[in-house]
Amino acid sequence: MLIQKNCSLTKFNTFGFEVTANELIAISSIEQLQELFAENALIRDDIGILGGGSNITFTQNFGGLLLKNEIMGKRIVHETEHEAIMAFGGGESWHGAVLHALSLNLGGIENLSLIPGTVGASPIQNIGAYGVELKDVFHSLSAFHMPTGEIHDFYAEDCKFGYRDSIFKREKKGQYFITNVQLRLSKNAEIKTQYGDIQATLEGWGISTPTIHDISKAVIFIRESKLPNPAEIGNCGSFFKNPVVSDAIIPELKLKYPDLRTFPADAGMTKVPAGWLIEKAGWKGYRRGDVGVHAKQALVLVNYGKGNGTEIIHLAHEIQADILSKFGIALEMEVNAW
Ligand code: EPU
Repeated sequence: MLIQKNCSLTKFNTFGFEVTANELIAISSIEQLQELFAENALIRDDIGILGGGSNITFTQNFGGLLLKNEIMGKRIVHETEHEAIMAFGGGESWHGAVLHALSLNLGGIENLSLIPGTVGASPIQNIGAYGVELKDVFHSLSAFHMPTGEIHDFYAEDCKFGYRDSIFKREKKGQYFITNVQLRLSKNAEIKTQYGDIQATLEGWGISTPTIHDISKAVIFIRESKLPNPAEIGNCGSFFKNPVVSDAIIPELKLKYPDLRTFPADAGMTKVPAGWLIEKAGWKGYRRGDVGVHAKQALVLVNYGKGNGTEIIHLAHEIQADILSKFGIALEMEVNAW
């Protein structure tokens, strides 16, 4: 098994930070994991698992062993008249999985088009966009439990999915290498155009009865017009979660800021757009050296070239402190800092 020493991670993190991993192994099969387990190579506390590197801010060189998920595969495991359960290897690109499903006319994940990252990482933070979350189509996953070398299966109820959250960010953090994810895709999927600009975009194109293919094209169009392409400007998508706050503080905020749009959350709670808060506080388009806040979407922090993770985290902390003092709202980071 090839162990790459002092391996550059510049191409393996979408911020494009110039950092290295002390050791990196590309994992393309479960057998490789079993072999490492048999050699006691997984009994150490400095193992990290890397997918597409699209949700990680490296603040320094990674001193341990990185296992890069490159387990491939796409196949239908079960099919009925109305739906198909499709299994994807954890190392498959998420957008590639969406395009593959579309090529088979299977719907359910078209609203999640163009999200960077791998299929294996998608359940960890329950990826979501344009009115759909992974949990809506999730069937199950298989994962290699590094402490015992066993394969465990998780069904939707086991994963404790929440808004950008799952058991894999909490109780089970760092224990599992996700080898395979199964999605329940539909042959006559419900078309979801309610969120944001989808409807308006489709109308602008003269499409009144959209297909799943049209939805995917609209989502790609909207994302490309708002979100920076990591191949051009380093970024990790939304850097913060949208804060969920008590309903009690909303009337006063709305009185002060009549343009504030909020979204319903769990009982007694309201979701406030972090991008709006950051823009209102004057940070949109802010740049310091080579790091900054994206000019078209204030929720996205960017690396213009030579920025580093420490600068990004400093900027994030300043934004958090400013939002807390101006609005009394605590912003939580969505991206992991390593
Ligand atoms: N807004 C502003 N200023 C900004 C950005 C947003 O005022 O600079 C306002 C918008 O006008 C809108 C509201 O905030 O009223 C929501 O904006 P948007 O629809 O762009 O979505 P978001 O809440 O900023 C979330 C996800 C994105 C996902 C979009 C679309 C989170 C943390 N982010 O962003 O996910 O693509 O919705 O569904 O929930 C990601 O997780 O990396 C990501 C990009």
